[in-house]
Amino acid sequence: MDPLDTLAETAPARIAAATTIAELDDVEAATIGRTSPIAEARRGLGSIEDPEERRSAGQHINGIASSLGDAIAARRTVLEAGEQAAALTADALDVTLPGRIPARGSIHLVQQTMDEIVDIFVSLGYTVASGPEAESSFYNFTALNIPETHPTRLESDTLYLDYGEEQEDVLLRTHTSPMQARYMEEHQPPVYVVVPGKVFRSDQVDATHAPVFHQIEGLAVDRSITFGDLKGTLAQFAREFLGPDTQVKFIPHYFPFTEPSAEMHAYTHGRWIELLGCGMVNPAVFEHVGYDPDEVTGFAFGMGAERMAMVRHGITDLRALIDPDVRILEQYR
Ligand code: DAH
Repeated sequence: MDPLDTLAETAPARIAAATTIAELDDVEAATIGRTSPIAEARRGLGSIEDPEERRSAGQHINGIASSLGDAIAARRTVLEAGEQAAALTADALDVTLPGRIPARGSIHLVQQTMDEIVDIFVSLGYTVASGPEAESSFYNFTALNIPETHPTRLESDTLYLDYGEEQEDVLLRTHTSPMQARYMEEHQPPVYVVVPGKVFRSDQVDATHAPVFHQIEGLAVDRSITFGDLKGTLAQFAREFLGPDTQVKFIPHYFPFTEPSAEMHAYTHGRWIELLGCGMVNPAVFEHVGYDPDEVTGFAFGMGAERMAMVRHGITDLRALIDPDVRILEQYR
């Protein structure tokens, strides 16, 4: 049988059997491509002498070639549609799936509390300052009139930093009060400033202690500031922080850097509770920073941010504020 007739007979089945476009390309090359029997037959036309015979052989070849070409084109359309449908299915998005909701961060309760306390004093006209956490024993103790022999200076209470050859003791500040002296050294009165920040003590963690916590220090120095100003300011603060009907009382206390000194207690959640330490700035502190105690007076106060958060929200264990447990923290978003 003539190879072209064989081709015409077998090729349609091979075209139909191609299941991918790549397979169809192979079939196309083998049937009507440059090395196919069709191409070979065309090349043989030149050797046919009789023009009539050559024309009819040419028509025969072209007839087979064009019907195979049509079959291949038709198959290609089918395969392309199939591959496109498969690609669409593979890339399909299920738009009915609920989305993943990303966890949303929030400001920690202790930071919120500090921000709020600072805001209250800012609204009373105070400015905000911050100071170093690694502090010298001069600013942490001496400038605050804390005697060389005071037990708080001991390593059992205070975390000292070992800088080898350093002449002066460097420590992690045990309170924010050192900023009283630093601020007054840099600024002339009147001074109305609050200082939020981290403080450090040689303590284990329990329900009321932690080696790191936060304080907010306050200092007001001006001509003729009185204990009445202290009481009025801190009572106003308590009303803003704990509610407009909050009662406060001042109980005598002792701090080396204030004289007289007091603790302010507030009545909240059905009981009296200590909120902060305060007092009139000790003239000895003014002398350390070059202020004239005959010209100016002042008051100072210091409070723990964790403690304030606990009082406000009725939290009884400090560890609730330290554990990074999102379920607890989320409640105070
Ligand atoms: N520095 C004190 C402490 O850490 C708190 C304090 C008490 C600060 C009285 C003051 C103050 O400014 O006047 O316990």
